[in-house]
Parts: sequence; C-alpha cells; structure tokens
Amino acid sequence: MLAAPTIADEILDLKKSRKAILLAHHYQEPEIQELADVIGDSLELARKAREFQGDVIAFCGVWFMAETAKVLNPDRTVVVPDAKAGCSLVDGCPVEPVREFRRRNPGHVIVSYINTSIEVKAESDILCTSRNAVKVVNSIPAEKPVLFLPDRNLGAWVRKQTGRTNMEVWQGACIVHDTYPARRVVEAKTEHPRAKIVAHPECPESVLAMADFVGSTSAIIEWCASSGAPEFIVMTESGVAYSLQKDSPGKRFWFVANENCNCSDCPYMKMNTLEKLRDCLVNLEPRVELGDDLMARALVPLERMLALK
Ligand code: 13P
Ligand code: SF4
Repeated sequence: MLAAPTIADEILDLKKSRKAILLAHHYQEPEIQELADVIGDSLELARKAREFQGDVIAFCGVWFMAETAKVLNPDRTVVVPDAKAGCSLVDGCPVEPVREFRRRNPGHVIVSYINTSIEVKAESDILCTSRNAVKVVNSIPAEKPVLFLPDRNLGAWVRKQTGRTNMEVWQGACIVHDTYPARRVVEAKTEHPRAKIVAHPECPESVLAMADFVGSTSAIIEWCASSGAPEFIVMTESGVAYSLQKDSPGKRFWFVANENCNCSDCPYMKMNTLEKLRDCLVNLEPRVELGDDLMARALVPLERMLALK
C-alpha cells in the first residue's frame, strides 16, 4: 500500500500546480525553510519578489513583508499562512502621526524601515532594511534633515555609523530584540569566552556595544560562515539556527533568551505552520489585497531603495 502523502508532499505538489514560489524569512520554522525556494532577510526577499515570473507568491514571514511583495507584484496573487502574523514595529508606528510630522516638517526626508505598514511606506521618501540602512541614510544629502522610523535601536545604530546629527529617530521597538538584557550577554560570554558575539541592529545599544558583528539576519549568517571562530553568541531570532548550522557545519551557536518570552522566538513569525501554508495554497487565502493608489505611492520609496546597489 502506498504511504499517504505528507503535508510537505502536498505543499510541493501545490507549488507546481499553482505556479507558486515559496519565499521564507530566516525566522520561519525549519520545516518551512526546508520547502522554500528562497530563504532570506527582508532585503533579499523583496529583491526575489521583484524577479518572480509565476502566478502565486506564498510568503512565509510577517504581513508587512507580504505587502511589500504585493506592491512589487500587483498583478500576482500573494498569500500568507496566517494574516495575523504582524510585527510590534508596525503596531508602534501608526500612519496619522507620520502624516502630522510631514505636515509640520516638510523639509525632512522620511526614511522608513521596511518593518512598517503600507500606509506609512506610502508617506515615506525612501525605505531601508537592516542590511542597507547605513547606505540609504548616506545617500541623502548631508544638509537635509532626516526622520528615521520606527525602530529606535536601529535608528541609533545608523546615527552612530553615519555620524549624522540631523536625524530624528522614532521610538518604536521590536518585542524580541529590544528585550535582550545586556547582563545575559555578559553571562553568556563568561560561559563561552571563546565565542564571538553577533547581533541584529534592533538590539539595544548596550547589547550592540558588546558585539563583534552587527548586521541583518543574512549578514549574520554570512559573517559566521566566513569567520574563523568556532562558536558564537547569537542575538537574534532562533530561526536563524537553520541556516547557521547549514552554512557553518561544526561551529556552535548559543542563543540568549530575552525578557519578553524568555526565549528568542518572534511570536508573529512562529504563527506560520506547515498546515496553514498548505491551506493557503489550496484556498488562495489569506491573500494580500491593496488599493492601486496605495501600492503606487508605496512603490516609489521602495524602488528608490532597490535602485541603490
Ligand atoms: P532582516 O531585515 O534582518 O531580515 O530583519 C527583519 C526583522 O524583522 C528583524 O526582526
Ligand atoms: Fe517584528 Fe521583531 Fe518579529 Fe522582526 S522579530 S518581525 S521586528 S516583532
């Protein structure tokens, strides 16, 4: 008797029949990353979404990332496993105060982190991700005042890297990275003195000050693979363990728990499951639907960012 197909088999069949691509962020569960056509950080996934030629994008990440894929593919169907997979940075930056800032400060350049709603993107001059934020801010003429939003830690880090003094920073935070206490990094370093510390720039300044490397999820994975060090203390979400172990065989990775969940999981990213992924490919729901005008306005700052090499 033939074995019943697994959910993974069903997803692989559905990908073919739907002419679908599966894009997965590094924070997804390993079983989702196993099936993905592309695994990446938010910049890489946005670039892949732009190159895509098929009919359906199944986006395994969080809602703002799927919205970005839709803006770049307005005529294609973009589905997600769980429409409630949001982001604390998006929640901490409603569009009205951004519009109000714009009205009061027409001379400011608004640089929005990709972790924002489509409405906030539509009010922005240029977008950035953690991978290219320094480059984006450096691309703005020095005399122009900047508002960077919404992540306060990424903003403070970019201000330090660029030396930019005329840059205001919104006070939003990531519930995963902002709640890593510096004392736990010190404890981890005491326990693993040979380990290098790698951190995502959404971590607090006190944590970043101790890091040997600061970068986006993919940049962290690449840095660990090319480093000669045998062990690393990792200050980002647990899902990166999948690519860290694949790309750095034989090396050891220590994840530090934050004070929000006493773990290093993003509760939004972890809402996606194989079952929900299969169901969204069967039903083509939940689906990202956005107004044409909103997409057209959000596309402008997004294309400005993607044009920066
Ligand atoms: P990356 O741009 O590094 O993928 O980060 C996205 C994110 O949500 C980090 O918490
Ligand atoms: Fe948002 Fe933080 Fe989750 Fe990234 S880890 S998606 S910034 S809540």
